[in-house]
Amino acid sequence: MSTTNRRIVLISRPQGTPQAENFRTEVVEIPELAEGEVLLRHSWLGLAPAARLRMTEQASYREPMALGDVVYGQAVGRVVASKEPGLPVGTSVMSIGGGWQEYSIGNAENLVKIDEAIAPPSVWLGALGTSGMTAYIGLLDLGKPRVGETVVVSAASGGVGSNVGQIARLKGCRVVGIAGGQEKVQHLTEVLGFDAAVDYRSPNFAEQLRVACPSGADIYFENVGGAVRDAVWPVMNQGGRIVVCGLIAEYNDNRQGGPGWFPILSKRLSIQGFIMSDHLHRQQAFLQDMRQWIREGRIQVQEDVSEGLESVVPAFIRLLTGKKFGKSVVKL
Ligand SMILES: NC(=O)c1ccc[n+]([C@@H]2O[C@H](COP(=O)([O-])OP(=O)(O)OC[C@H]3O[C@@H](n4cnc5c(N)ncnc54)[C@H](OP(=O)(O)O)[C@@H]3O)[C@@H](O)[C@H]2O)c1
Repeated sequence: MSTTNRRIVLISRPQGTPQAENFRTEVVEIPELAEGEVLLRHSWLGLAPAARLRMTEQASYREPMALGDVVYGQAVGRVVASKEPGLPVGTSVMSIGGGWQEYSIGNAENLVKIDEAIAPPSVWLGALGTSGMTAYIGLLDLGKPRVGETVVVSAASGGVGSNVGQIARLKGCRVVGIAGGQEKVQHLTEVLGFDAAVDYRSPNFAEQLRVACPSGADIYFENVGGAVRDAVWPVMNQGGRIVVCGLIAEYNDNRQGGPGWFPILSKRLSIQGFIMSDHLHRQQAFLQDMRQWIREGRIQVQEDVSEGLESVVPAFIRLLTGKKFGKSVVKL
C-alpha cells in the first residue's frame, strides 16, 4: 500500500468559470490513523456543482473551502487500513467529503457502506447516491406530483435532472426537460422517455417551452436559475409548485435577482428550497425504490466517465459549461 496520497487543492478562488490555475496537485504523506478511523482508497470520485459554490468566499448552505484545502467532493472506495471494528479492511464505502484525492481518512459517522452486488461503485455516487436521492426527495416529498400533472425540470441531462424526469414519468406525469443543445434534447425524449425537451440555448427558447407545455406546468424542479428560471415562470399554472434544488447558472457569476414576486401572488405559487442532507431519514425508502426501479429498467443510469486524477479538473470545467451528459464520475 502506498504511503503517499496525491490530491488536488484549491489555490485561488475562481472568477467566473474555474481554470486549471485555480488548482494544484500535490503529493503528501498519509498520516497515522487514530482510534475509530479508517483509510479509504478511492476508486471513483463524483463531481458536483456544489464544489463550485464552496470555492467562493461567500457563505452558502455549506462553509466555503479555505485556500489549500482538498477540493470538496464525494468518493467511493475500499477500506485499506482500519482502526474501526465496524469498518474492516475490504469494506466498500461512500464518503460524502472524500474529496478530489486518491486516499481519505474517515470514520463510521461520515462513511456509508455500499453493496457492490447491487450496483457498480460509480452508481453509488449518482443514481443510488446523492444525485438520485436529491431527485427523489425534491420531486416526491416536496413537489408531490399527481398523475397527469406536467413537471418541468431544468439541467435535465445532469445527475439530478435525469433522475427527476424519469421518476416523474413513472409517477404518471407529463415531463418536459430543459437542456443545452439538440443532442441532449433528443437523448431526453428518445432514450430517457421524456415527453418533450427544449434547448435553452435556442433563440426562441421561451416560445418553444410554451409549446412544449400546452397545459402549463404544475411543478418546476429548479436546478439552474437565471434566464432559464425567467422563461419557466410564465408557464406555471395556478397553484403550481416550484422546488428550488440548485441555481447552477448563478454559481460562476453570483448573479442574483429574478422575475419579481407578482406571479407568486397572482398564480398562488408555492416555492420551496431544500437541501438533501436535511432528509437523510428518507434514505432507506429512497434506496428501496431506486434499486427496484433500476433493476426493472425503469430508471436508466447516465454517467459521464473520465479516468485518472489528472482528468478531474477538466471534467469539472465540462460540468460547469454543459459539455457532459449524466453524473460526472472519475475512475481512479
Ligand atoms: N439541494 C441539494 O441538496 C442539491 C443536491 C445536489 C445537487 N443540487 C443542485 O442541483 C443542480 C443539478 O446538479 P447535478 O449534480 O445534477 O449537476 P450536473 O450533473 O453536474 O449537471 C449540471 C448541468 O447543468 C447544466 N448547466 C450548467 N451551467 C448551466 C447554465 N449556466 N445554464 C443552464 N444550465 C446549465 C449543464 O447541462 P446543459 O448542457 O443542459 O447546460 C450541466 O450538465 C445544481 O444546481 C446543484 O447545485 C442540489
